[in-house]
Amino acid sequence: MSRALDAIKNDPNRVIIFDTTLRDGEQSPGCAMNLEQKLKIAGILDDLGVDVIEAGFPVASLGDFEAVNEIARNAKNATICGLARAKESDIEAAGKAIKPAKSGRIHTFISTSPLHMKYKLKMSPEEVLEMVKSSITLARSFTDDVEWSAEDGSRTEDDFLCMCVEAAINAGASTINIPDTVGYAIPDEFAAKILMLFERVPNIDKAIISTHCHNDLGMAVANSLAGLVAGARQIECTINGIGERAGNAALEEIVMALRTRHDLMPFTNNIDTTMITKSSRILSSITGFSVQPNKAIVGANAFAHASGIHQDGMLKNSNTYEIMTPESVGLKESKLVMSKHSGRHAFHEKLKELGYELKDSALNDAFIRFKDLADRKKEVFEDDLIALVEDEIFSENNDIQFVSLQIRAGTSGPQVANLCLSVYGAEECMEVEGNGPVDAIFKAIRAICPHPDAILQLYQVHAVTGGTDAQAEVSVRLEEGDRVIIGTASDVDTLVASARAYVNALNKLIAKRSSVNPES
Ligand code: KIV
Ligand code: ZN
Repeated sequence: MSRALDAIKNDPNRVIIFDTTLRDGEQSPGCAMNLEQKLKIAGILDDLGVDVIEAGFPVASLGDFEAVNEIARNAKNATICGLARAKESDIEAAGKAIKPAKSGRIHTFISTSPLHMKYKLKMSPEEVLEMVKSSITLARSFTDDVEWSAEDGSRTEDDFLCMCVEAAINAGASTINIPDTVGYAIPDEFAAKILMLFERVPNIDKAIISTHCHNDLGMAVANSLAGLVAGARQIECTINGIGERAGNAALEEIVMALRTRHDLMPFTNNIDTTMITKSSRILSSITGFSVQPNKAIVGANAFAHASGIHQDGMLKNSNTYEIMTPESVGLKESKLVMSKHSGRHAFHEKLKELGYELKDSALNDAFIRFKDLADRKKEVFEDDLIALVEDEIFSENNDIQFVSLQIRAGTSGPQVANLCLSVYGAEECMEVEGNGPVDAIFKAIRAICPHPDAILQLYQVHAVTGGTDAQAEVSVRLEEGDRVIIGTASDVDTLVASARAYVNALNKLIAKRSSVNPES
């Protein structure tokens, strides 16, 4: 029996939290992660208490297959799910990838709206209905936990949606997902769609109904909650709301809305909300996707009461302006953790406490970088360590490695970068002039490793902590055709961080060149 489905068996108000950060989130522009980073996020999601981790789209590339397979092997409690189009090769890849999981699910989908069937699939409704049945039958030969999605479900005609859902359940799907793929629905309308299914599909009681709402009109969370009130018992969501275009429903918003407004939505789930802030920060540090300061729950200002009137009220009684506490989402001051006198053992222990278990060689390299950082920076905070370790993990198995950088800069230009990289193991150096030091560095990287079709779309710097000796965290966004890649790196020297962030993006771009997108 699937763990996710087992959890809901005896409690009609239990909601399954299905996290798709590693699939819908990871497939969105700029959010690509390597194997190590995906394993890290999967471990966090497992500890956070999500019921299902959609770990990827195994047929997309060997890298995606390996990631789902490794996550399946390592999962402690969560059900591990692989995505598959209604194609034999997809379903077989997903079935094999989830095999090592204690509890594994295949999520197969096909478009059902008139628009998608006619223009995207070029198939008749009858043909689509046949594929619904055959894809689920095949998926059931790998696992008894099969989820079926009606892509563009919110824009699908009621009669056809009912036919597909009934056929999907008869073919053996135990979860039926109704995506608002293009983020078009509004809450009343989405709730009515779910209610309509409960009223019209005769075998609906044999499946869990699920929501998967995109945020194009800013209503993903509202639509998901409306679906829940109408009878759905699974919500698909992502950390920080990452996902295609405007993203998916944000897990932290869903969970905190359910907790804070339990009076109106008496549903339960398995999430440890005190892990929300840490999960959000680590994801943001890994992907380079920063969270907007005013983002609900995890934005830097979400619990900051700046106005005088608010501060006065808060001092008299925190309930005046605070509907949930910072502690409930695990928000603490970034702690001062270590100094240059801290030893290797203390460093190792601190990393474990922050959720990092590095292998020996990576631990050594990270310790050397920590010593170097502690020499250059008086105080090292938890956020510094997270930035440092993420950097270390990412650069471990890369084809292109940063080696060294010297810069000539100042008022009497031209500015010059003297940069050395290791390219597939061979060291190559270049001295290049530019309009400013960053331009010189990026031109040097392009001269050493030409990638003429990639365009630099964004260069952004922010401080990891306070103080003039703070580490700079740099994000670089490269676009090559429809591939969008974000690279990040941090260092006390902003220019070194810039070079490393660009190299990071380039490595991700090389890895991304060989994968397929499930929406195409
Ligand atoms: O948005 C969507 O429809 C999807 C499906 C693959 C479930 O992501
Ligand atoms: Zn989606």
